[in-house]
Amino acid sequence: MYLGLDLGTSGLKAILVDGDGAVVATADATYDNPHPHPGWSEQDPADWIAACEAVLDRLHETHPGPLSALRGIGLSGHMHGATLVGSDDQVLRPCILWNDTRSAAQAARLDAAPGVRAATGNIVFPGFTAPKLLWLEENEPEVFAKIAKVLLPKDYLRLWLTGGHVGDMSDSAGTAWLDVGARDWSATLLDAGHMRRDQMPDLVEGSEASGDLRDALRNRWGIAGPVVVAGGAGDNAAAACGAGCFAEGQGFVSLGTSGVLLSAKDSFAPDAASAVHTFCHAVPDRWYQMGVILAATDCMNWLSRQVGRSAGDLAGTLPDRIDGPSSLTFLPYLSGERTPHNDAQVRGALIGLDVAHGHADLTQAVVEGVSYALRDCLAALQGTGTELRSIIAMGGGARSRFWLETLASVLEQPLSIPTGGEFGAALGAARLGIAAATGESLSAIMTPPAIAEVIDPRADLTERYASGWQRYRGLYGAVRPTPDEAAV
Ligand code: XUL
Repeated sequence: MYLGLDLGTSGLKAILVDGDGAVVATADATYDNPHPHPGWSEQDPADWIAACEAVLDRLHETHPGPLSALRGIGLSGHMHGATLVGSDDQVLRPCILWNDTRSAAQAARLDAAPGVRAATGNIVFPGFTAPKLLWLEENEPEVFAKIAKVLLPKDYLRLWLTGGHVGDMSDSAGTAWLDVGARDWSATLLDAGHMRRDQMPDLVEGSEASGDLRDALRNRWGIAGPVVVAGGAGDNAAAACGAGCFAEGQGFVSLGTSGVLLSAKDSFAPDAASAVHTFCHAVPDRWYQMGVILAATDCMNWLSRQVGRSAGDLAGTLPDRIDGPSSLTFLPYLSGERTPHNDAQVRGALIGLDVAHGHADLTQAVVEGVSYALRDCLAALQGTGTELRSIIAMGGGARSRFWLETLASVLEQPLSIPTGGEFGAALGAARLGIAAATGESLSAIMTPPAIAEVIDPRADLTERYASGWQRYRGLYGAVRPTPDEAAV
């Protein structure tokens, strides 16, 4: 048996699979994501541990037999978060998350420093880890002075599971301290970020072993033999493992808290001038590129809170089939934006409100705005020469048929919809656990899911959605902060 643990932004999901990757059991637990100030996003790492204890205690109760045969664990987690521990491994402050933009000024400075973009292959975005540490140095120097190790969220979970300080290439690629081409910490980037190599965890590939589950935890959950914990992956690389995206041009679109359009790459071919991310894949000698928008289903959750109806209820206000774009345009920049704007200060907008508009119109506008933002990501990927040859749709938003039809028509690309079951980051993590524990060939483990249906763009509507996208693009110029506002 093998376990995938996916530490998401809103909760932790565990899946227990057999040696063929077939799901035996799942369990999940949620936690908070406080936003103590506009642009801030934090989490208490103790909540992750509590969630992990809760899901494993539950699996121990419901599936004691399969759990006792556990041989490998793989970890996946939301990327870029700065979890700081002192020399006693105690957490020094709440983790600063991927969608926290407080360090925009430090990111811009680091991004402009000589040699930085060349070494990382990426723009230094405010959500990345390195600028967060520069912000801490300036704003919380007493915390900064005590930092013994900086761990990404899933690597903090690993510390609790194994006692070791280890990171993997795919997650570490999002720190802006890694030489993404060489797959190692970069002296140039660590210097520029005022960090030392001894503050970094050791590195392994996602499919390699990183340590063993502590005996106390094995005993607590009745596990008979040793359990290998794999390097694991950042959530997007893990999702690519779950969906079998490895060959050049194989990709997915994810409608989760954030929105992601990802394509696997055979080689390291960065374009640091563009707001596309070029990161290590979770397996050796592979990379991927992606466009990231900071709020996808997060926008629907925001709308749901404002109108007091669940996201599922709002989705129910929409017809099954699309019928052309709304006259209402939503800009989904609720937390600023990464691809293509790299703009931490821009905020969202609803443009074209009419006295007759109601909940269904607002919901449709959110669906379309997020889809247009992902079309921006596609254009950015194409601008670097990356062509998506196949796209699997995943994430909570992909449960909406209306959203899938809209997205296919806006992207002008067919979307493959897997038959039910698991194919996301938690399965990808479990597969990395299998790889590390058995040494089986990666191509045998990381197969693509069975496809239930392909949703094609609606030929009769694509031109109208293309005009909607042009209108959407034009509106960024109207809402972006002026240079004076941006300087405040
Ligand atoms: C990727 C990113 C998000 C997080 C949260 O760069 O910031 O996708 O990994 O899921």
